[in-house]
Amino acid sequence: MVRLEWSDMYRTDIGIVDEQHQQLFSMINAIAQTLEAGDVEPEEVEKALDGLVEYAGQHFVDEEREMVLCHVDSRHQKLQRMEHSSFVYDVGQLRSYANDGGDSLADQYEEILQFTASWLIYHTLRTDQKMAMQVHAIEQGKSPEEAYEYSETHPLSPAIYHEVIEAVVHLWSDALERIADLEHRLKEISGDKKA
Ligand SMILES: [Fe+2]
Repeated sequence: MVRLEWSDMYRTDIGIVDEQHQQLFSMINAIAQTLEAGDVEPEEVEKALDGLVEYAGQHFVDEEREMVLCHVDSRHQKLQRMEHSSFVYDVGQLRSYANDGGDSLADQYEEILQFTASWLIYHTLRTDQKMAMQVHAIEQGKSPEEAYEYSETHPLSPAIYHEVIEAVVHLWSDALERIADLEHRLKEISGDKKA
């Protein structure tokens, strides 16, 4: 079961961002605990997931505002907005597939939670670390363009790579499963039409 542990490698040293990332970690862990306790009450889990998605949405708004205020290069801001909106879209899609039969409800919720955890690990350790690198470089006098080039060419801490690779592998296998599922559904639909 998912268990996120906050550590220094997640720190961006941007106050509001670190506070909100820690809160997202706690919210995911709390839902994981509920699932682990067994006897899944769909209403309770749905409510907690609503809260998580709402909080993540507010966090994205705040983070995007920080980047505007700090004059982070528009290329990075564009990437951030794209990743943020794909998170909201993907979680919405995963939730809409739940209750479709097949796996048990607990397994489906666990899958949603695993996706949110892997996405958060990947995003906070890679994309947000690059954002932090730029914010701090700009604070130290670099132009937004120089800070962007620096973040694109300067390696991130080696400590993060194990976690990032694990998260990416999970996101990738999750995407493959969803594609296989969609292909299966398409075949069923075209079979129905032929019949
Ligand atoms: Fe972000």
